[in-house]
Amino acid sequence: MGVYRDKVLPRIIDKACSSDDIGKWRVRATDGLHGIVVEPGFGSGTNLPYYPDAVTKVYAVDPAVLGRKLAADRLAASSVDVEFVGLDGQAIPLDDNSCDAGLLTYTLCTIPDPMVALAELRRIIKPGGALHFLEHGIAPEPGMQRWQYRIDHVQKRVFDGCHVSRNHPELLTAAGFEIEWSEAEYANGPKPWSFFHLGRAVNLA
Ligand SMILES: C[S@@+](CC[C@H](N)C(=O)[O-])C[C@H]1O[C@@H](n2cnc3c(N)ncnc32)[C@H](O)[C@@H]1O
Repeated sequence: MGVYRDKVLPRIIDKACSSDDIGKWRVRATDGLHGIVVEPGFGSGTNLPYYPDAVTKVYAVDPAVLGRKLAADRLAASSVDVEFVGLDGQAIPLDDNSCDAGLLTYTLCTIPDPMVALAELRRIIKPGGALHFLEHGIAPEPGMQRWQYRIDHVQKRVFDGCHVSRNHPELLTAAGFEIEWSEAEYANGPKPWSFFHLGRAVNLA
């Protein structure tokens, strides 16, 4: 699992997550971000081309060392100041209230304890600041949900902890974020993996 996770999976994720189709959603997920942003699951920097000019700094958090290497071209092409600050979204070495906003794209599905990661984001993002999210997860139809619960067991092994059945809006609300707006729909692709939530949640004081 070590070689696959460290040397192969980041390349698969980089290819799968940099499609034009997903790019359309990244434009919307990053819209309105400004100031200092924390991005757990930075991966290979797939959001970098989409950050608005108003973003002055991004604190990147990700355990995948190869992801950073694959981000090299995007980092070189971007005017955003990126600093790698940690390996785990569940324990981020940043001060309380040190960021204006956060960005999570296709990452909360993978972090082992999403509630711990969301508590970290609540600690780090200033009160009233926003967490923008684009995450695939549980579909609304019970029949599809049954498939997703079945798939989860294999999915977690093949994609290093990724779940297809997490309910991200529910997790965000339970963690103390208020969802300002969210949209949910199927993207192109196999349905159990393609239902996603896009939106903006506010860190309540
Ligand atoms: C499916 S990829 C998404 C990458 C990127 N956010 C995107 O939208 O293309 C999930 C990312 O989460 C990272 N990840 C896994 N466990 C993590 C953790 N505990 N904390 C932060 N990131 C983690 C993986 O290394 C990977 O880069």
